[in-house]
Amino acid sequence: MCGIVGAVAERNIAAILVEGLKRLEYRGYDSAGLALIDDGGALRRHRRTGKVSSLERALAEEPLSGRLGIAHTRWATHGAPCEHNAHPHFSGDELAVVHNGIIENHGPLRERLQGLGYVFTSETDTEVIVHLLHHKLQSLGDLTAALKAAVGELHGAYGLAVISRAQPDRLLATRSGSPLVIGLGLGENFLASDQIALRQVTDRFMYLEEGDIAELRRDSVQVWDVHGQPVTRETVQYHEGAEAADKGEYRHFMLKEIHEQPKVVQRTLEGRLGSDHVLVQAFGPQAAELFARVKNVQIVACGTSYHAGMVARYWLEDLAGIPCQVEVASEFRYRKVAVQADTLFVSISQSGETADTLAALRNAKSGDSKASSYLSSLAICNVGTSSLVRESDLTLLTQAGLEIGVASTKAFTTQLVALLLLTLALGQVRGTLGAGVEARLVEELRRLPTRLGEALAMDKTIEKVSEFFADKHHSLFLGRGTQFPVAMEGALKLKEISYIHAEAYPAGELKHGPLALVDGDMPVVTVAPNNELVEKLKSNLQEVRARGGELIVFADREAGIDPGPGTQVVAMPHIDDVLAPILYTLPLQLLSYYVAVLRGTDVDQPRNLAKSVTVE
Ligand code: G6P
Repeated sequence: MCGIVGAVAERNIAAILVEGLKRLEYRGYDSAGLALIDDGGALRRHRRTGKVSSLERALAEEPLSGRLGIAHTRWATHGAPCEHNAHPHFSGDELAVVHNGIIENHGPLRERLQGLGYVFTSETDTEVIVHLLHHKLQSLGDLTAALKAAVGELHGAYGLAVISRAQPDRLLATRSGSPLVIGLGLGENFLASDQIALRQVTDRFMYLEEGDIAELRRDSVQVWDVHGQPVTRETVQYHEGAEAADKGEYRHFMLKEIHEQPKVVQRTLEGRLGSDHVLVQAFGPQAAELFARVKNVQIVACGTSYHAGMVARYWLEDLAGIPCQVEVASEFRYRKVAVQADTLFVSISQSGETADTLAALRNAKSGDSKASSYLSSLAICNVGTSSLVRESDLTLLTQAGLEIGVASTKAFTTQLVALLLLTLALGQVRGTLGAGVEARLVEELRRLPTRLGEALAMDKTIEKVSEFFADKHHSLFLGRGTQFPVAMEGALKLKEISYIHAEAYPAGELKHGPLALVDGDMPVVTVAPNNELVEKLKSNLQEVRARGGELIVFADREAGIDPGPGTQVVAMPHIDDVLAPILYTLPLQLLSYYVAVLRGTDVDQPRNLAKSVTVE
């Protein structure tokens, strides 16, 4: 999704801006641009569709140099992905703006500004901001004052940065619904929508809060809160290892991240397990008291995180006896929800900035929302500084580290681990777990990183299996119980990165429709741990074989599923059935990866998709 980088310094900042944009590339975008006040005091810009490398080439052909600038990667929402819609947007040769988010009242604002004589050169909602600012600047004379006045008229979500030719010593920024972070340097300061863009220049960050306006100069940063009061925001030292943004020995970030899973699952467990139980305090000091009152759980999430929530529903109901509902956030946020008493609201998100998930949380929390009140809110999230974490009562951070591949892998398995910890913590506090269940699963969780390592050792076998998909256009994924959401996640991965149409079904639904599609050109991928449903699953597999379907089965060694004509079986390490969804996710990730490589797609940045969807 869109990315912002800005800088005010003593040195030429063009290369810093470009490097920052490159570091945000993984989020997905369709055009890029930068603007700076050049050494002659003029406002200059380059914009290009496609990759940041095109922008870099433009800079090589026609260099720009300056000490104040802003840059942007755009993911089109209003207006096609073309050069004239790319940011930064100008008002005359005076002002430049970059913007993440959506201005909902851009229509009436545009009409008003056109009435005042402003000529628009793009179809974007962003362009109203820059002209509105220019208009305010005419009467107020000062950029900071103009920005304060302009934001009062903007409805919607924004994180934005502004520079002005008339005041070339400052970079202005404000946020509402879209994240912004200030990077603090020595005699220079920076701005970005994500700190990762600025790791090259600093490790000290200041996170802007909702409604904040900031004025960055070379040697000072001033922030005003939503009420216009001067505030000091905490400075945070960033600790993540710098190695995270490097592919290392791997061809793609996705493959690297798949192979990191034993390590990050281990990290997610660290400090959270007692000898034979889960440490409830890991969820926060009030968790024990709150969890004792929980009678229901409502999970809300998007995409891959939603699939993690679906697995958790099986666990929460089966192991902890707690009724649980799971819903995609984009649906949940717009419907009138009947809330059962004592319901814990759980949001799951890798980024913690997904617009629909955040809106669902805000609805759930606000007294006048469509939803009546929840007992409390818990965020399962991978980014400790994210809006979701800041706005939730309780948090359990997944420790997946930075995930660059747009298709989520290690974030998903660490979410599953966190959700199993939640299930055990709730069951423990409420006394609803069966005898010995917690101790057994804690032991199994300790062994999980080793089991995941064993599954990853099948890498080459799965690469071979992937060849079968080279010329296929459609596929089915089947699973039962907790393996149904795993099948959904497998299908999502395949479609996201290989562009093969993939659908997932609970295996029992096969004969209610999808069986009509089965023939030799429709591979049917099945996940089959050795559990009480395996015999039923075998019957489903027979149904496929009888129609000439080609089966690829990831099966427990003892499940009794044998290879044969039309049936490829990949033997999986044995694992406790509760943890099976975590283990069986891995071969499906690898399968998608190798199919995508075979088909030559852009694995880490699949077309049309974004890593973090911060607009609706
Ligand atoms: C996008 C990403 C997915 C992700 C989803 C939810 O669609 O491409 O990988 O699962 O957003 O993101 P979140 O950060 O909330 O988990």
